[in-house]
Amino acid sequence: MKILVTGGAGYIGSHAIVALLEAGHEVVVLDNLANGSPEAVTRAAALGGGNVPFIEGDVRDRVLLDELFAEHACDAVMHFAGLKAVGESVEQPLAYFENNVGGTNTLCQAMAAAGVYRLVFSSSATVYGEGHPLPWHEALPTGTPSNPYGRSKLMVEQVLADLATSNPRWHIGVLRYFNPVGAHESGRIGESPLGTPNNLVPYLAQVASGRRESLTVFGNDYPTPDGTGVRDYLHVVDLVGGHLAAMEALKKRAGMNVWNLGTGRGFSVLEMVRAFEQASGRQVPYHFAPRRGGDVARCWADPTKAREELGWQTQRDLDAMMADVWRWQQANPQGYS
Ligand code: NAD
Ligand code: WQD
Repeated sequence: MKILVTGGAGYIGSHAIVALLEAGHEVVVLDNLANGSPEAVTRAAALGGGNVPFIEGDVRDRVLLDELFAEHACDAVMHFAGLKAVGESVEQPLAYFENNVGGTNTLCQAMAAAGVYRLVFSSSATVYGEGHPLPWHEALPTGTPSNPYGRSKLMVEQVLADLATSNPRWHIGVLRYFNPVGAHESGRIGESPLGTPNNLVPYLAQVASGRRESLTVFGNDYPTPDGTGVRDYLHVVDLVGGHLAAMEALKKRAGMNVWNLGTGRGFSVLEMVRAFEQASGRQVPYHFAPRRGGDVARCWADPTKAREELGWQTQRDLDAMMADVWRWQQANPQGYS
């Protein structure tokens, strides 16, 4: 099949390129480079052993999308393009709604005009909000995400549900990621945050490599075994495997389908620190600070639905996640820049 990968110059999209090429698909990438690097596409194409046309452009650009679909007869779209910095979304909510919600809206209009009705969308466990019993499964009602980024993901889910209801030709997979981490085992592609990392694992990697002094652990008074926040971290290569499985399953599944992508178990921040120390052989200095606004104490997935309906489950453990991040970090201390 020929797949349009939006956001393919970013962290997860670049890993999807490799997996798609390895599975024998053709790939076209669209990315506006707001947070991506063309080098990621080049390296991913080399890893996957394919030729990947890269179009620098925006998913909000309808004219460009029409041209793209006219030139490339795509069978499906994996839609990773979006803004994802939680703190920035609080400062610039309109930019997030325009980019994430407006961008998806325009993309879907262009897809329908081109007769492309299969879409895999990057959602987030943040749409569950707070207060549900663990583990979180897809039948739970969505909640109120604690920030505009999360609300943009929930809004897109609502848009896609309405779209699927409006026209039975749509086959849509909404994938609710828990916490993707790790890097390709080659060390050639990985997460390359611009500026100070917002997320735990890229920050840990920069502390271990000496680029930053100490990890700030947000909160040690949560109702968890060691007082620090617990999350369901999954390897990015497993995550993109879930996308390929969803894309295949959508051949036979019309409407909107929601699947959690997670391991089903949680690790605390301190367990993550220890695992990173183990993988890197370095000490990771850390200090405690107050809780970060909007954080939940604990969350992990119930991945049963993805296992039963997609035949997908994670294969890589925490040691592999950390070893792969460390390999990437050491080979690329400044990311792609
Ligand atoms: P990323 O920032 O590395 O990649 C996103 C890519 O989209 C970037 O290359 C960026 O330049 C591009 N982009 C942004 N807006 C665009 C636009 N309007 N038009 C074209 N390209 C645009 O992020 P990622 O971690 O790879 O995340 C991919 C998707 O998964 C995002 O939608 C994100 O919200 C979602 N997601 C990520 C996580 C996570 O922890 N990384 C968790 C849940 C959901
Ligand atoms: C994990 C744990 C922090 C950084 C976020 C988004 C979510 C999704 C994935 C992406 C928490 C703690 C972190 C640090 C710390 N979206 N932490 N010090 O918050 O679970 O999820 O990324 O597109 O929508 O909210 O991930 O990696 O930021 O935090 O102590 O410097 O690590 O408090 O317990 P989170 P995270």
